[in-house]
Amino acid sequence: MTNGSCRVRTLAGLSAVLFLLVACGPSDDNEEVVSIVSGRVEEGRRLSEEACAVCHAIKGDYAVTPATGAPSFTIIADNPTYTELGLTVFLNSHHDRMPNYVLSAQDQADVIAYIHSLRPPKVEAN
Ligand code: HEC
Repeated sequence: MTNGSCRVRTLAGLSAVLFLLVACGPSDDNEEVVSIVSGRVEEGRRLSEEACAVCHAIKGDYAVTPATGAPSFTIIADNPTYTELGLTVFLNSHHDRMPNYVLSAQDQADVIAYIHSLRPPKVEAN
């Protein structure tokens, strides 16, 4: 159960990551590294309440959840690094202060769809 050949963490932030991850390919023991499935916002909200809300403010305008120091999902949603791919990489990486989740590709896609549903509307500068 290793995915050492695809150390996704080291690739974070590269726009070519998706290509590289796909090129690494699903092998027998890491078939769920990248979500190719489409996310469902409502499912993602439910999952976030179950798995993430204990540490993250998963809705509303809070910047940081005081008890844990975890950024709110609104802040995460507004971070340009956290595209669908960026979040997928994050959710498959090791964290020091956050549990390492093993979420199915569908669950990841759902959570990401929910986070992205919190993105503020973009204001055109002119
Ligand atoms: C036990 C507490 C805890 C839980 C549960 C938790 N997180 Fe976190 N999370 C943190 C902390 C603390 C940070 C900030 C430190 C870090 O990045 O490791 C963080 C950071 C993040 C970040 C990166 C934010 C940034 O700006 O760098 C994302 C994305 C994230 N969490 C998503 C999730 C999702 C999705 C879930 C549910 C599946 C979840 N977290 C569950 C504690 C938690």
